[in-house]
Amino acid sequence: MSSAPQLVFDEVRRTGASFEGLVGCSQPLLRALREIAQVAPTRSTVLIVGETGTGKELVARAIHKRSGRAHRSFITVNCAAIPQGLIASELFGHEKGAFTGATYRRLGRFELANGGTLFLDEIGDIAPDTQVALLRVLQEREFERVGGCRAIAADVRVVAATNHDLERAVDAGTFRKDLFYRLNVFPIRVPSLRERADDVPLLAKYFADRYAAAAGKTIRRIDKRTLDLLQAYHWPGNVRELQNVIERAVILCDGETLSISESWIRSRTATHVVPLNQTLVDRERQMIEAALQESRGRVFGPRGAAAKLGIPRSTLESKIRTLRIDKYFFKSAARKHSNRTLFGKNVSHRSQGPYPSVARAKAG
Ligand SMILES: Nc1ncnc2c1ncn2[C@@H]1O[C@H](COP(=O)(O)OP(=O)(O)OP(=O)(O)O)[C@@H](O)[C@H]1O
Ligand SMILES: [Mg+2]
Repeated sequence: MSSAPQLVFDEVRRTGASFEGLVGCSQPLLRALREIAQVAPTRSTVLIVGETGTGKELVARAIHKRSGRAHRSFITVNCAAIPQGLIASELFGHEKGAFTGATYRRLGRFELANGGTLFLDEIGDIAPDTQVALLRVLQEREFERVGGCRAIAADVRVVAATNHDLERAVDAGTFRKDLFYRLNVFPIRVPSLRERADDVPLLAKYFADRYAAAAGKTIRRIDKRTLDLLQAYHWPGNVRELQNVIERAVILCDGETLSISESWIRSRTATHVVPLNQTLVDRERQMIEAALQESRGRVFGPRGAAAKLGIPRSTLESKIRTLRIDKYFFKSAARKHSNRTLFGKNVSHRSQGPYPSVARAKAG
C-alpha cells in the first residue's frame, strides 16, 4: 500500500497540481497536503492555522473528504459570526421551553454533524463561556442540549481553524490553555502565498480558466509582465486576494491574453511595502502587538500604541492593515473580565470598521 506522502505526490502529479481542490505544488504546500493525507483517516482533532485567505476552509473540507466520514455531514460553525448568547444553543441545540422563544426542540450543530465532521471556523474568536462548554464536549465526547438533562454522545470529528496566534492568546489570557491543548492535537499550518510564490502562476492560470469558463471567454495565456508582477507581490490577502485580482482581470480581458494593471496591486503596497526580509517583518509585528497589548488595543491618544512606538498614528494604522494584525483582539483581551459580548463587538467592527482585513478578505 502506498504511503500518504506518496499518495499526495501521485495525485498532485496526476491532476496537474491539485489535491481536493487545493491547487499548488510548492514544497510548503506539499508539506501541508501530506499532513492532511496522514491525519484525515484518523479521528483526531485538527487545528488549522494560517493567515486569512490561505485556504483553511479548503483544508478542512479536504480532511473530511479523505476521511471515513466523507459520506456523512460536514457542518461548519463560524464562531465569530454567532452572537455569544446564541452560541450554546447553536452548538448543542435546545429543548422546547429552554428559554423564552424556544417553542420547539432544536438540534445543534454537534448533533447535525453526528457521524461526520464539525468545522469550528474562527475558533480564536469564541468567548470564555463557550470555551468551557467546548472543552467539556471535546474531553467527554458528550453534551447536553440547552435546557436538557440527558447527556448525548458526540460522534463528531472536530476540525478547527483560526488566523489568530492561539498561543499568544493563551499568554494574553483570552484563550483557555486546556482548550488550546485539546484542539492542538494535530496542527496543520497552511503557508501564506508569499511563502510559496512558485504556486502563483499555477493558481493564476487555475482561476483564469475558471472565471473565463464562467464568463464564456477564451483566455489562452497570461502575459509575462503580469506573471512577474503577481509573483513579486506580497499578497497580504493570500489566495483569496489573488483570486479576486484574476476575476477582475478576466472581466476586463478583451482578447486571449490576460493582463493586470500594476496599479491594482501596487497601490496597496506603495506606502508600506519596504524590502524587509521576513525576520524584520516578524520583529515589526512583535513590537506592534506588544504596544497594542500594553495600550489595550488603542492606537492613538497619549496612551495609544502609536505614541508608545513613537510613530504617527496613520503609519501605525497602515502597518496594522498590511500586517493584518487584529487590533480588536487586544481590546477583547483587555475586556476579558467584562460582561460585554465579544461576538457582537468583533462582528460589527469587522463588517463596518476601518479595519479592512477580514471585511475585504471576505468580500471575495
Ligand atoms: N490552494 C488553493 N487552491 C485553490 N483555491 C484556493 C486555494 N487556497 C485558497 N483558495 C481559494 O481562496 C479562497 C479563500 O480560501 P479559504 O476561505 O479556504 O481561506 P481561509 O484561510 O479560510 O480564509 P479566512 O481566514 O479569511 O477565513 C477560497 O475561494 C478558496 O477556494
Ligand atoms: Mg475561513
